[in-house]
Amino acid sequence: MASGPSFRCSSPSCLLQANDSFPLVGRWPVLIDFERSILRRGNLVSSSAIESGPLTGSRRWSIDRLPVWFRSWWKPVNRVAQRNVDQLRSLLPGSSPVVLVVGGGTIGNGVEALYADARLRLIAFDVYGSPVTQFIADAHQIPLADASVDAVVVQAVLEHVLEPGHVVEEIHRVLREDGLAYAETPFLQQVHAGPYDFNRYTSSGHRYLFRSFDEIATGPVAGPGTQLLWSVDHLVRGLMRSELPGKLARALFFWLRFLDRLVPTAFAMDNAGAYYFLGRRGAHELTPGEIIDYYRGAQQPARRG
Ligand SMILES: C[S@@+](CC[C@H](N)C(=O)[O-])C[C@H]1O[C@@H](n2cnc3c(N)ncnc32)[C@H](O)[C@@H]1O
Repeated sequence: MASGPSFRCSSPSCLLQANDSFPLVGRWPVLIDFERSILRRGNLVSSSAIESGPLTGSRRWSIDRLPVWFRSWWKPVNRVAQRNVDQLRSLLPGSSPVVLVVGGGTIGNGVEALYADARLRLIAFDVYGSPVTQFIADAHQIPLADASVDAVVVQAVLEHVLEPGHVVEEIHRVLREDGLAYAETPFLQQVHAGPYDFNRYTSSGHRYLFRSFDEIATGPVAGPGTQLLWSVDHLVRGLMRSELPGKLARALFFWLRFLDRLVPTAFAMDNAGAYYFLGRRGAHELTPGEIIDYYRGAQQPARRG
């Protein structure tokens, strides 16, 4: 509940009843239990936490300032996400379904249709306030009631959280029975966001992370060619000790990403920039034994015994 310029817990069982438990930063309520979060109250409750992102720092230069044709050449539209989000939307129940975007400080590549769909009630949060978020929160403790949303989208976020398993449990908790989850998480991608980058997942590891969900679809997002392009960029950065030559090499070798189209999916399941998972909150949890049989890559299983 709101109390003056801050929010507090109104439930008698809640420990956070002090008037300033949840301060306002700009127009965003900060719904974080700082005792349990790696985020620091002092850092967040400052203007730098607004619209810049305390994890990534303020960006003076942004690709968004460049012409559209250049942006779509440099960073092509994520057609995999577009297709998956269309599927997610088609599976949602008819009347005003609630969709929660975790780590939604920016609109992710390929998920724009969610924001344009007037049928949806879209809620987004991040660890900083942005024009597309309603509140500030830590994904390890989503400040929403159990079974209160119809779908969760978590794109390019699980690599940045300290305990992804815990975040997925939170996603499971806030989803209604049969609720949908859509995740994209990197596998072969260089460190980004400096000290705030903690995890990578193989396709099987990603599936096991979402083991309490039934699978609807899964696959690679950026294939081996794109992954190689990123590696060329970062190799040149390392050799030249500077970001700019890496970017120039990336422009020169842009055609590598078209090779993705020539690689069969099974090989991309062993070598991709990221994997997606679209699933439904399930009753059955995938067991450790089942995850071995689950493998979707191109390698022959090693003979046992
Ligand atoms: C690579 S960006 C992706 C943003 C957006 N999903 C997209 O695809 O454009 C990762 C986002 O995760 C957010 N993030 C990192 N840790 C978080 C946490 N514990 N809780 C909520 N968001 C977090 C970051 O602030 C950042 O906005």
